[in-house]
Amino acid sequence: MKARILSVGTFVPDTVLTNKEIETFLDTSDEWITTRTGIKERRIVDKEHPMSASEMGARASRIAMERAGVSSGDIDGIIVATFTPDNFFPSTACSMQADLGCKNAFAFDLSAACAGFTYALTVANNMIVSGQARTMLVVGSEVISKTLDWSDRGSCILFGDGAGAMVLAADEKNQQKGILSSCLFSDGTLGDLLTLPAWGENRVLKMKGNEVFKHAVRFMADLSLQAIDKAGLDVKDIDIIVPHQANIRIISALAEQLSVPMDKVAVNLQKYGNTSSASIPLAFEEAWLDGRIKDGSKVLFVGVGGGFSIGSAVCVF
Ligand code: ACO
Repeated sequence: MKARILSVGTFVPDTVLTNKEIETFLDTSDEWITTRTGIKERRIVDKEHPMSASEMGARASRIAMERAGVSSGDIDGIIVATFTPDNFFPSTACSMQADLGCKNAFAFDLSAACAGFTYALTVANNMIVSGQARTMLVVGSEVISKTLDWSDRGSCILFGDGAGAMVLAADEKNQQKGILSSCLFSDGTLGDLLTLPAWGENRVLKMKGNEVFKHAVRFMADLSLQAIDKAGLDVKDIDIIVPHQANIRIISALAEQLSVPMDKVAVNLQKYGNTSSASIPLAFEEAWLDGRIKDGSKVLFVGVGGGFSIGSAVCVF
């Protein structure tokens, strides 16, 4: 049994926040942000009437379901990776299940920060391979703008809001295609480098950027190689890498460590910033629509985030 990725769908809010606009209220510059991060603009939810993670996730999921040709009744399970849930409970996934009318689906949230999508993909893959579900929605959805300290120039310039979803389905016939391998790793001793408290007064995202940077590159490279090896492949066999979109310098350093040219790496953080668990489907969709994912393409997904949490997966399309 293999789990195939049938489709992807995404949603981003309409409001664009450019670096130039950030210059108007923060001691920073378009030049600094572009050079240090690669980010030019990001999408953010409306301040007065913000969309929730479940609303954005449902929009992305509807597109993914339509592209896959599956109806709401076909979905057996929904996993939503998010660190910005609508509530502690009901889960964002349960709210989406109701919204989408997926009456036959179990639904739960998963917390692995910016590695969330790779974790959700791994769990869904294992559920499909073990026979617990045949068709699943894997979603990353984040309303990060609500968690930011907009006076902290070291963090607020990096992030954006958005959602992405993939439909995964069981395939008994074709053993050559589908998810070949996945790897997860965590290092809780580095938890204080990237935090967002659940309780207390000062509930904003805090980050030790420099340190996060160093560990992010090392962890992503390690987990990439592990997933490629587990799939029985060589780095040269990978057609495209879809990394978490944290910072262009992290992504370039990863490509360098793997000796992969940048034209084999999906990058769209210039438009959306770091959307955490939504960034992998957002980058993947662009590559997919551009025709960069072809029949038989071997794709490496790799993510890293707070926790630290790191995940990777190799999939053949
Ligand atoms: N505009 C202008 N100057 C700034 C800004 C800003 N937005 N932010 C920081 N600076 C200043 C600092 O105050 C510092 O000034 P000083 O030398 O006078 O003290 C100087 O720029 C250099 O600061 P650094 O923190 O060393 O800058 P660095 O090159 O490391 O870039 C950044 C900072 C962009 C945050 C980088 O460390 C980074 O991207 N780290 C990764 C963090 C990340 O991606 N987190 C996302 C979540 S985790 C994940 O997804 C992997």
